[in-house]
This record gives sequence, C-alpha cells and structure tokens, in this order.
Amino acid sequence: MKALQITQYGDIDSSLAFQELDVLEPGAGEVLIKIHAAAINPVDLMVMRGDLKAVKKLNLPVGIGRDLSGEVVSVGSGVSKYQIGDAVFARVGEDHVGTVAQCLVVDASHLAKKPENLSHEESASVPLVGLTSYQALIQVAGLKKGEKVLIHAGSGGIGSVAIQLAKAYGAYVITTTSSDNVEWVRKLGADQVIDYKKENYLELLSGIDVVYDTLGNQYTKEAFKVLKQGGRVVSIAGVLDPQSARELGINWLLRKLIRLRSGPILKLAKQKNALYRMVIMQPNGDQLLELAALYQDKILSPVIDKIYPFEQSIAAFSHLNTKRAKGKVVISVGGST
Ligand SMILES: NC(=O)c1ccc[n+]([C@@H]2O[C@H](COP(=O)([O-])OP(=O)(O)OC[C@H]3O[C@@H](n4cnc5c(N)ncnc54)[C@H](OP(=O)(O)O)[C@@H]3O)[C@@H](O)[C@H]2O)c1
Repeated sequence: MKALQITQYGDIDSSLAFQELDVLEPGAGEVLIKIHAAAINPVDLMVMRGDLKAVKKLNLPVGIGRDLSGEVVSVGSGVSKYQIGDAVFARVGEDHVGTVAQCLVVDASHLAKKPENLSHEESASVPLVGLTSYQALIQVAGLKKGEKVLIHAGSGGIGSVAIQLAKAYGAYVITTTSSDNVEWVRKLGADQVIDYKKENYLELLSGIDVVYDTLGNQYTKEAFKVLKQGGRVVSIAGVLDPQSARELGINWLLRKLIRLRSGPILKLAKQKNALYRMVIMQPNGDQLLELAALYQDKILSPVIDKIYPFEQSIAAFSHLNTKRAKGKVVISVGGST
C-alpha cells in the first residue's frame, strides 16, 4: 500500500515522499482501517520541519497525517465495538500517525462511527479541529449559554468549527478575520466579526468571558486586555502552563522550564483573577462520538476549503502552509489498497 511519509526533517519539497509499505496486522485493542479520506493540520508541518524534535525525536521515515475517515478492514483481539465494514473516523494517536495513506492500524479507543450524513471527505475534516475546540471551549473553559467568547482566526480549520460549536452551546461569538472572509465567517454563525486588516480588536472589545487564543505570540498576552475580571483564556498556540504540563506527564525538569516561561502569562492571569490554560488536544473516541451526533443532527457542518486527490497530497500540504485556508484541507484517498 502507498503512504506519504516524512523522510527527513525540512521543508515540504525535501521532506515528503510516497513510499510503498507493507499492510500491518492490528494488535490487541487495534483496528486496521482502509482510509477513504484524510485531513491535514498545521501540526503535521511542525513535525515535518522538526519544530517538535525537543519533545519527541522521531525515527524517520514516519507517516504524516492525524485525521482519517474510512472503513474497518480487520480488528485485533479485545475489540468488540467495531466490525469489518464499519464506517469510522478518528484523530489517531501519536503512536499511529500516518493517515495520508491507503491503510493504517489505529487504536480502537480513538475511533467513532462516522456520521451517516457526511461523506468520508467531510468526516475526515472533523476530528482534530473538532476535538481541540471541544476540549478547549467546553471541557477546559466550561463555556456557558449567554457568555461572550472571542475566537481568533474564525476562518481557519479551528476557527470555522469553534464558531459553530460555541454557537451550539449558546454563546455570543466574536471572531477576527481578514476583509475577504468577513461575510463568510458571519454565515458560519459569528455574532460580531472584526476585520483585523481594518480594525484593532483591542479598541473594540472588553468584558469578554472566554478568549480562545488560536494565534499565540502577542495574542496570548493581549487576551487579558479584553478579558473580564475572573474570565478564562484558553490557548492552543501559546505558552504551556504548569497544570497542563503536569496533566501531560511532562518530566519535572521540563516542567521547571515551563513554570519559568509561563510566569509572565500567569502573572497577567492573576491580575485579572483569571484562568489561563494551554490545551494540547488528545484523541478521544467518546468525545468524537458526541461531536458526530452534532453533525448527524446538522447542528454543526463540516467546512472544507479544498479536497486534493491522493496523488496530489504534497500540493495539499503546500496549500495548508500558506496559512490562508478557509476551513479544512482534505485528501481524498479513494479507499483502494
Ligand atoms: N494545541 C493544540 O492541540 C492545537 C490543535 C489544533 C491546532 N492548533 C494550532 O492552532 C492554530 C490554528 O490552527 P488551524 O488549523 O485553524 O490553522 P489554519 O487553518 O492554517 O489557519 C488559517 C487561518 O488563520 C487565519 N489567520 C491567520 N492570521 C490571522 C490573524 N492575525 N487574525 C485572524 N486570523 C488569522 C487565516 O485567515 P485570514 O486569511 O482571514 O487571515 C486563515 O483562515 C495553529 O497554530 C495550530 O498549530 C493547536
């Protein structure tokens, strides 16, 4: 079977290549999936460039891609929830990365049954961004009906699902985007859209209950300027906080560094009596099933920028790398072995 792999750390042209690989047998608790579609995410490019080498050094070549939608081909021992032929989708675990491929063995606990009303391309677009936004906004921030949430980069893969999810939970949604995307994100459900090319959101906003920081850098610190006293800042692109580091099982030495690095942000949080957490999303089949129900009931809709055929997977990564995607970049694998 064919798979796109990272053959060396570097840029897209020098690092990615198709390889012919053996199809593996699923072990205990695992399932072999025939992949129909995969979606790609900025983290795939970060790993390819070697940006995360300090956290996890890889034995190259390795697969690329964390989102899939496909069909169960065989099940390992101890798996009773899935049967051959089931249509499923997943954000696979870090030990099983490599969804830009024709087949993949995955951990059964990361799977959920695919929403029947979505195509494989549509359902592949959901897991990583859907779970991230669910874990950040609902699980960690505890977003409630009537609260004001600021979602940065509303037109991105994350933003386009986060707007819909926050609306589904009854929040008042404010988002930032560039001029061309203003009307488009309004149609996704945003109550207030700030065109960051023309307006300064810091001059327009105050008293925000929850800031979803999807941009990091200065945006993480700025979040506390618009936040209400006692509000919550949940970042997915900022500085790791000590509590999240502990929960992720990071060793004490690295945690000491994290404590130092997050000091200035935690100080800002303390001044506002606010919560600051950085979420590193985790695969979770049970939460994905909850999201599947929201898609099945048409409360959420998949947002796809472009679908590439499998042979053009490398071009798909180049498109994602522009950082201008409106929604998700998806690869149609076709399901052949
Ligand atoms: N911690 C985690 O577990 C986790 C999980 C998922 C993602 N992430 C991170 O979250 C970030 C977003 O991911 P993504 O999948 O949404 O990326 P993406 O789809 O590549 O985001 C592209 C979008 O960002 C918008 N954008 C860029 N700069 C902006 C700015 N200054 N203000 C407002 N919008 C801006 C662009 O809109 P315009 O063209 O209108 O500017 C574009 O639509 C990435 O850094 C990713 O690594 C973290």
